[in-house]
Amino acid sequence: CGIVGIVGNEPVAVRLVDALKRLEYRGYDSAGVATLQGGKIARRRAEGKLVNLAQKLDAEPMSGQIGIGHTRWATHGAPTEGNAHPHVTDRVAVVHNGIIENYREMLLDLAKDGYLPDTQTDTEAVALWASRELANGADPEQAVSRTLKKLRGAFALAFMVHGREDLLIAARHGAPLAIGYGNGEMYLGSDAMAMAPFTSRLSYLEDGDWAVITHSGVTIRDRSDAIVERDQLVSLTSAAMVDKGNHRHFMAKEIYEQPETIGHTLSHYVDMGTERVAIREALPFNFADLSRLTISACGTAYLAGAVAKYWFERYARLPVDIDVASEFRYREPPLEKNGLSLFISQSGETADTLAALRYCASQGQHVAALVNTLESTIARESDVVFPILCGPEIGVASTKALTAQLTALASLAIAAGRARGVLSAEQETDMVQALIGLPTAVSAALGTEDQIMEIAKRLSKAKDVLYLGRGPMFPIAMEGALKLKEISYIHAEGYAAGELKHGPIALVDEAMPVIVVAPSDELVDKTLSNMQEVAARGGKIILITDAQGAETVGQGVADVILIPHVSSFVAPILATIPVQLLAYHTAVFMGTDVDQPRNLAKSVTVE
Ligand code: G6P
Repeated sequence: CGIVGIVGNEPVAVRLVDALKRLEYRGYDSAGVATLQGGKIARRRAEGKLVNLAQKLDAEPMSGQIGIGHTRWATHGAPTEGNAHPHVTDRVAVVHNGIIENYREMLLDLAKDGYLPDTQTDTEAVALWASRELANGADPEQAVSRTLKKLRGAFALAFMVHGREDLLIAARHGAPLAIGYGNGEMYLGSDAMAMAPFTSRLSYLEDGDWAVITHSGVTIRDRSDAIVERDQLVSLTSAAMVDKGNHRHFMAKEIYEQPETIGHTLSHYVDMGTERVAIREALPFNFADLSRLTISACGTAYLAGAVAKYWFERYARLPVDIDVASEFRYREPPLEKNGLSLFISQSGETADTLAALRYCASQGQHVAALVNTLESTIARESDVVFPILCGPEIGVASTKALTAQLTALASLAIAAGRARGVLSAEQETDMVQALIGLPTAVSAALGTEDQIMEIAKRLSKAKDVLYLGRGPMFPIAMEGALKLKEISYIHAEGYAAGELKHGPIALVDEAMPVIVVAPSDELVDKTLSNMQEVAARGGKIILITDAQGAETVGQGVADVILIPHVSSFVAPILATIPVQLLAYHTAVFMGTDVDQPRNLAKSVTVE
């Protein structure tokens, strides 16, 4: 989904639609624009593709010279015209990406004053809240600033105000947004690509920033409302190229996109209104009848499957086999009747994964794919395709695809748990709420970056690094090691914490950093005692945990990286963030080619 805005000197509606076209790659299912005509808010919206909106504009042109536009990927409420953005009142028009977690509570409060929603969207709560502030005498800046302080969630927003033909207000909290500088015109967009034909001079908002945009320029404030300067840069983006934003590498951009991309994935799998999982794909099997789930994948996608094994077994009591596709395909394992084979692949083209798929299809299994590229071979050859919807991933080392895969797999595990009578409705709601809270928690976990840079400086001097985790944190430990190997070329191993004493402990000495991934859960004490075995031998421990985990830590820990406490169900998704940042910053210190590490390919179409 995407946001655009123009404070212009000529009619803007058609240009807004053009800008939205360049955001099409993000996916959407409805679209709309609003402009001010004689100071009054006018809008056109349409279900489906942008061509429908363009046709409406042809039939009923708009003359406004200031406007905002949006492509929507439905989260709260079906992708109907009525739920499409902009959402308007008689005072404001609002477009929004992301999730407002507390919109229900806001709507209850607004109802007391007679502010009632017309739609099922969370966005309307924002429009109504700002309208009430304006009605109570606030000026537009105050109204937006007060509204922003009320919101919980990860989002990007743009406001246009009745009667103010020289003003757009934009805010970024977890979802990207950039300001574009023109000659006597100003622009707003989810990325540089949206604004490419208008301008290449941009400033990216940082998290918590909000911006007041007029013809003459922009004033940016941070979350404490202090005026801040954000670098102006010249974007090299052409519409044909995916943009790095203000990040040094695609990998950094993709790491930082995760609050938004996870929200995007969730919006496909979860009904935010009912807080239940809603699988949109027609399933050619019934979860209740499955005898077994067989997962094959390669690299990071394999590790997503390894986490999912814990989820499907625990929450759906469905037996799971998982193997790397290159082993699976030649093992030719016997497969049970009524089994489901699932293939996880970002590219959808990995040769070993495809061969494993063909084997399973030949054995009469139900074949499902979890992919990012819907036109891929793996998608085409599957009975059912689950999308992960994280947008193009350019960095060779996978980051946002992993958290999107995990988010989708977590949702599928809930669906299976419900179908198999394992999860109650209340349990499902608790788990879905934990998923909905993830974008915010991921934003907070990204805040560990400065500390991680310090640790990475030391890590870059290591020859070997050991990662430990238990339960679903074991695959995350392996992912940490894999990421570090891939991009920094430092040797690393991910080990099950309990296996430490059966081998790797022999390696531990003062020169060996040991990264322990252990947010507080039912197993944390066991992992922490394995950690003490390392400490006793002089190993340098870097512990990734939350506040509760940190309380129980004893002596000997060199560094504690604190991430927010979340339910143990979604903790593996959150714990992925610091291991990505550690690998990334270590590689940056080493000076390697982060986005295209030596000898590796993004899409491995050979055995
Ligand atoms: C390559 C990439 C990895 C990726 C793996 C599987 O090795 O470098 O980042 O995890 O392939 O790719 P797939 O497209 O099947 O997810």
